[in-house]
Amino acid sequence: MRLAIIGFGAVGQGLARALVETGFVITAVADSRSAAINPDGLDIPEVLARKEKTGLCGDTGVGSADILSSGAFDILVEVSPTNADTGEPALSTIRSALAMGKHVVTSNKGPIACAYHELKALADQKGVMIGYEATVAGAVPIVSGLRQGLAGNTVQSLHGILNGTCNYILTRMRDEGLTYPQALQEARDLGYAEADPTSDVKGIDAAIKLVILANTVLGMDVTLNDVAITGIDSITLEALSLAEAEGATIRLIGEILPGKNQVRVSPRVISLDHPLVVDGTLNAISVCCDLAGQVTFIGKGAGPYPTASAILADLNFIRDAYDRGA
Ligand SMILES: NC(=O)c1ccc[n+]([C@@H]2O[C@H](COP(=O)([O-])OP(=O)(O)OC[C@H]3O[C@@H](n4cnc5c(N)ncnc54)[C@H](OP(=O)(O)O)[C@@H]3O)[C@@H](O)[C@H]2O)c1
Repeated sequence: MRLAIIGFGAVGQGLARALVETGFVITAVADSRSAAINPDGLDIPEVLARKEKTGLCGDTGVGSADILSSGAFDILVEVSPTNADTGEPALSTIRSALAMGKHVVTSNKGPIACAYHELKALADQKGVMIGYEATVAGAVPIVSGLRQGLAGNTVQSLHGILNGTCNYILTRMRDEGLTYPQALQEARDLGYAEADPTSDVKGIDAAIKLVILANTVLGMDVTLNDVAITGIDSITLEALSLAEAEGATIRLIGEILPGKNQVRVSPRVISLDHPLVVDGTLNAISVCCDLAGQVTFIGKGAGPYPTASAILADLNFIRDAYDRGA
């Protein structure tokens, strides 16, 4: 199947590399200032080399709109930056692709958090699919795990470590006695934290992921405004020491209680032997189900290849369904 990739940064380039020998053909790529289109398939090593050398993946004056109007793709892969307020401009791009009868796969949280129900209705109307596994917890297959692996269960609660940056900071504060500013600086130096870490450390990024899970697999209808959010920026070494004395630690936990229509993110004291106590940038999600009991997923929540893994899973799912004539 032919892919158009919108966004050619860490994830877009990681995906392009991971797609070699998968049978998918990349016919178009776009970054913020350029695009390349070849309906017969782009020379990806050449595109990657050009991006590295010039900062451009293709020609200036060409963009996402040209890729859409070319129609030279079966699946649009949207991996441009997240805008959690409006989902734009990715939301409009995704809407257009679905309206054209094209499948969509995205790692971009904005459009899914802002407009999943609308996009899913459009996809259903057009007989196409929308995959967004990569929007939550990177490589961890939580969307398909809940939707397919635990199908038939009622999820009573979901708790998760959904932000690797916060988990890294809290891990380093506990293990090395670093203060919050010291641990944040270290996370920045290692490239785990953005130059502006506000969305991560204030709990907003984790809240957006909870909104996606609540609305898309747990049958809820919530917005970011419905989430009670407290970040980790006030956590002190003294608080961690007090927790430690009780055989516990502090982690930023996202919580969904579907029966109470409740979604929240907050630092919580958690026993050291709890399965959600994972180290460093790992993500972990634990669900309590009526039939399966407690099931915990742990894995890499970010990075070009872990994210490409989730995108590739969605692409393969769509291709398999297409091959079966679904
Ligand atoms: N990185 C991760 O580990 C990870 C994990 C899960 C989900 N995500 C999500 O995946 C998406 C991509 O992340 P990333 O880390 O690859 O970001 P990134 O490295 O900042 O790359 C973003 C890419 O999108 C391009 N872009 C910006 N505005 C655009 C526009 N209007 N049209 C077309 N392309 C545009 C940028 O162009 P330039 O190259 O010209 O700047 C860049 O190539 C984000 O939504 C992110 O939240 C990332």
